[in-house]
Amino acid sequence: MALVSAPALNSRFTSLVAAALCLIGVLWFFVPSFDAVKHLNVPGLHHPTPPPPPSTTSTTISSSAGNGLPPKPNHPIDHLIHQAHADFDTLLAKETHNVHDAAQAYRDRRGRQPPPHFDAWFAFAQNHSAVIVEDFFDQIYHDTAPFWGVPAQQIREQANGFLHRISVRGGNVTQRTDVEGGRVWMDLWADMVRSVAEFLPDVDLAINVMDESRIVVPWEEIDGYMQTERASRVIVPERELKTYYDGLTGLDRNPPSEAFDAEFSGMGPYWPLAVVGCPPGSAARKAYIETDFTTPPPLDGQFPAGSYEGYVQNWTLAKSPCDNAALQGLHGTFVEPISIANTKKFFPLFGGSKLPMNNEILLPPAMYWTEDPFYSGGKEHGRAWEGKKDGLIWRGAASGGRNKESNWRRFQRHRFVAMVNATSVELAGTGEQAPVNFALPGNNSYDLAALAGTSDSAADSSTSGDGSSSGSTTSSSYTTLANWIKSWSNAAVVHLLCFPEDPHPPYCSYTNPYFAVARAMPMAEQYAYKYLPDIDGNSFSGRYRAFLYSTSLPVKATIYQEWHDSRLAPWVHFVPMENGFADLYGVMEYFVGFGGGDGDGGVGGHDDVAKGIAMGGKGWAERVLRREDMQVYVFRLLLEYARLCDEERGVMGWREEPGG
Ligand SMILES: *[C@@H]1O[C@H](CO)[C@@H](O)[C@H](O)[C@H]1NC(C)=O
Ligand SMILES: *[C@@H]1O[C@H](CO)[C@@H](O)[C@H](O)[C@H]1NC(C)=O
Ligand SMILES: *[C@@H]1O[C@H](CO)[C@@H](O)[C@H](O)[C@H]1NC(C)=O
Ligand SMILES: *[C@@H]1O[C@H](CO)[C@@H](O)[C@H](O)[C@H]1NC(C)=O
Ligand SMILES: *[C@@H]1O[C@H](CO)[C@@H](O)[C@H](O)[C@H]1NC(C)=O
Repeated sequence: MALVSAPALNSRFTSLVAAALCLIGVLWFFVPSFDAVKHLNVPGLHHPTPPPPPSTTSTTISSSAGNGLPPKPNHPIDHLIHQAHADFDTLLAKETHNVHDAAQAYRDRRGRQPPPHFDAWFAFAQNHSAVIVEDFFDQIYHDTAPFWGVPAQQIREQANGFLHRISVRGGNVTQRTDVEGGRVWMDLWADMVRSVAEFLPDVDLAINVMDESRIVVPWEEIDGYMQTERASRVIVPERELKTYYDGLTGLDRNPPSEAFDAEFSGMGPYWPLAVVGCPPGSAARKAYIETDFTTPPPLDGQFPAGSYEGYVQNWTLAKSPCDNAALQGLHGTFVEPISIANTKKFFPLFGGSKLPMNNEILLPPAMYWTEDPFYSGGKEHGRAWEGKKDGLIWRGAASGGRNKESNWRRFQRHRFVAMVNATSVELAGTGEQAPVNFALPGNNSYDLAALAGTSDSAADSSTSGDGSSSGSTTSSSYTTLANWIKSWSNAAVVHLLCFPEDPHPPYCSYTNPYFAVARAMPMAEQYAYKYLPDIDGNSFSGRYRAFLYSTSLPVKATIYQEWHDSRLAPWVHFVPMENGFADLYGVMEYFVGFGGGDGDGGVGGHDDVAKGIAMGGKGWAERVLRREDMQVYVFRLLLEYARLCDEERGVMGWREEPGG
């Protein structure tokens, strides 16, 4: 789990906080303002309003970093980026600047009065220059709403009786766990809560100390709680409001007589346990449950569910295993997690990430609060875009779960690295080594120039075949594809993580033929490349925040939810990618282009667009993913949670009019 020891982390921690905060200030100065980057000039895109004048800057950048060829007109990604900006502008227009408007936005969106101390929360947020858009807090309501269907006393007692616990009493924070000297994530989360504790009512937080998310309550049970929640939603008149929290003195005088048993069980496999959290009509609930992971992965060449011509259009859907049943055989979380400790019991457990079918309450991950450069990337955010290598870099362990000789072909990191390995693609194309853990883009549904443009394959490569073989695309065009991949790809595993453990780690007898182990590369060095793919490991990827803060462009695939999801917009702040990676080559072609052979068949890239998203994401991260933003989130979350724990929660709220 934790790769750093607790004492080492703590000692480095405090001194780095100040340094990092200074640095954020300094960087802000050099980054173009958000407004300047949010309206991108996307070539080939139809502007509903008068098009901006042709930008000489973007033409220069394009040709200097690209190949000078014109890009494909009306590319689906042009449309997605355009739509994403329009949606994001609509969202930003909801920003509120005073507590009255913020409270009204709350009532409109939540159907309740804001919790007591809402004014203190707003003052804190405003004092810390937070961008206040009510929608940015949606995850809090997604996570906590079902608890309106559970008695307040039950919530209080379960949290109080849970072994791993952070408590706030009179503004003081304490913690309890089972390891002498503490656990590193617990220490970090306690520190996060402590940073706003002076404003908080008394609360107990049960904490998930594992990487994996752990609660899956059957969807039907949650639906019942949600019906209660909806029925209880009312804007209580101001004069009837109870405006304070009772606190937990009653609980402390009379604590639960025994520890709370969440009834975790380690029995797998995980997919059958997880699908019960999906809605009854969902793809996952209807799907056949796979048990044989020895075969190549089920990549059928179809455009992914809900995509726009194969590219991510609805990020929530693309990430959702409930909507993409094939993920049961394409992600280590379902194929074979490192550990399972699952329960169907609904109780308030706080953690850093979860699957859509999990029922935890999300905190900003402890990894994002630490200043350890292993996760944070340190103070270095990368050089200017123009000085970067025009390609993609990935280094990481072959994690994702317990990969074994029988099942590794289904793991996402293995798949990603093989797909951007020019040698493995070429060997697969010539038939010398069948692709054991990925599929070649058989009938070229993504219309890749590398598979269409050159030599003898031009005539038959566009035929829509059955996708079951490479029959419609010749081996020479796969060689062209491989050479193109080689021109921009640099990906390798740093440890093959064999199970059972190999006598010669980091190597691994059954995956050695397919992967070359490379040395680990600090994040700061990776920033020398323009494109940073981010692929889930055993749970969510802890480097994501650092990637967003960098001057490079994150290309993200995940099945996990995090606290920040509603404040980050795909195609505006990062590039979203399907978990099967079917869209990977299409995405890379859109950005880096394809030079073509003998001067024909090439297409231009969109280097300027890539730069715009990279810098837009960075500027936005510096506004809404700061430590202060995590504090603002935790402050709001715990006001809400404390209300849920109060016997009189139904009539509690912040009273706007002092005499009202
Ligand atoms: C906000 O800033 C003002 C002025 O510095 C200060 O008086 C107040 O206590 C601050 N409030 C919070 C909640 O931080
Ligand atoms: C909080 O901590 C301070 C300092 O240790 C102590 O004096 C105070 O009594 C504590 N308050 C509560 C409510 O525990
Ligand atoms: C996106 O997908 C989610 C999950 O399936 C769905 O609930 C939502 O309505 C979709 N959004 C749009 C705009 O279609
Ligand atoms: C490619 O093959 C898949 C699977 O047979 C099919 O669904 C898809 O429509 C084909 N695409 C094209 C462009 O022919
Ligand atoms: C690329 O694939 C080839 C063939 O499978 C393999 O020998 C090589 O080690 C791979 N390279 C990397 C960096 O994984």
